[in-house]
Amino acid sequence: MEGYKTLTMIKPGAVKNRHIGAILNMIEEAGFRISAIKSLKLSKEDAETFYEEHKGRPFFPDLVDFMSSGPIVAAILIKENAVADFRKLIGSTDPAEAEEGTIRKLFAASKAHNAIHGSDSNESADRESHFFFSDKELLEKHP
Ligand code: TYD
Ligand code: MG
Repeated sequence: MEGYKTLTMIKPGAVKNRHIGAILNMIEEAGFRISAIKSLKLSKEDAETFYEEHKGRPFFPDLVDFMSSGPIVAAILIKENAVADFRKLIGSTDPAEAEEGTIRKLFAASKAHNAIHGSDSNESADRESHFFFSDKELLEKHP
């Protein structure tokens, strides 16, 4: 099946501010199933690898520092049209431009510290899922 899966990270700021529960609740209420989930802390090298497409951009060093500054929650979410529907649920990269009721509008501190990640394509969802989870953890549990 194509396009049923996306990868999210609840970023360090939102974890620190104790928003894991509220954010996961919004995700489930929006119709996503949480197929795999874990809490971990990225090293700087991990963060550089995860965001390697942005290497060389002016915000990259701060992005890597922020993403390795504290624990995150990574999860695989299952739903029809998961990538696009999840991007809609989280809102624009910059919370100032995010629609009312989106996760970033509610929980992001700034464009750089924007609470949550969502994959930008099915290919990214696959790559990012394998970044965090083993083959066993990736087994589809919600047919
Ligand atoms: P990007 O993939 O463009 O955004 P999104 O997370 O919405 O897919 O950028 C990755 C992260 O890099 C973004 O979530 C926050 C950070 N970032 C900045 O700090 N400043 C910027 O100007 C951009 C474009 C991104
Ligand atoms: Mg992106």
